[in-house]
Amino acid sequence: QSAADLAGRHVVISAGGTREPLDPVRFLGNRSSGKQGYALARTAVARGARVTLVAANSELPDPAGADVVRVGTAVQMREAVLAAAADADAVIMAAAVADFRPERYAEGKIKKRDGREPEPVALVRNPDILAEISADRARPGQVVVGFAAETDEVLANGRAKLARKGCDLLVVNEVGERKTFGSEENEAVVLGADGSETTVPHGPKEALADTVWDLVAPRLS
Ligand code: C5P
Repeated sequence: QSAADLAGRHVVISAGGTREPLDPVRFLGNRSSGKQGYALARTAVARGARVTLVAANSELPDPAGADVVRVGTAVQMREAVLAAAADADAVIMAAAVADFRPERYAEGKIKKRDGREPEPVALVRNPDILAEISADRARPGQVVVGFAAETDEVLANGRAKLARKGCDLLVVNEVGERKTFGSEENEAVVLGADGSETTVPHGPKEALADTVWDLVAPRLS
């Protein structure tokens, strides 16, 4: 890649995993570390971009040179991403956003009561930030990238998700126990809305991040 091919560009990256509170001490969450999103932020800074990193519940140190906005929930992430995307050339949704949140937030800690079954937890859908950003581009020519983890039929499911979300590129990771041998386990494929398919061999998250920017840069208007 050329050293400064993102110079003068503003890119927005989401990272980490959202937490959806049940009560003041409990939440529904996921195991996302934020490492892939932070690698995208570091590599974008290295390539000359102005970077806004919207980070949900990650314990990683702030990447030097990036503006970091910290959020907790999917609703907070949506607000921060939409605000930053208003003048962005590219938006990369690398965060694991909870698809659902508890319908009710209990102001006091939920208690167990002798001899009684627990109340069921009702869930409601969270907004799909990637689909919304893709459908309502804040700028003509804004490039939007999503991530997807699939356990089977990776390419077919990835293609369907790319179409459903309406983004320009979808980075698809194969996950799960079914694949057991070596480097193919974490092989990523980047699918393009233009029909392109780029295989990224098993390797560090920085390498995948640089491949994403290699694909984003020529698509910038
Ligand atoms: O639908 P699924 O969760 O598999 O899609 C993953 C992609 O969609 C990721 O890029 C993720 O950041 C994004 N997403 C989102 N808002 C949601 C759920 C997922 O932006 N509510």
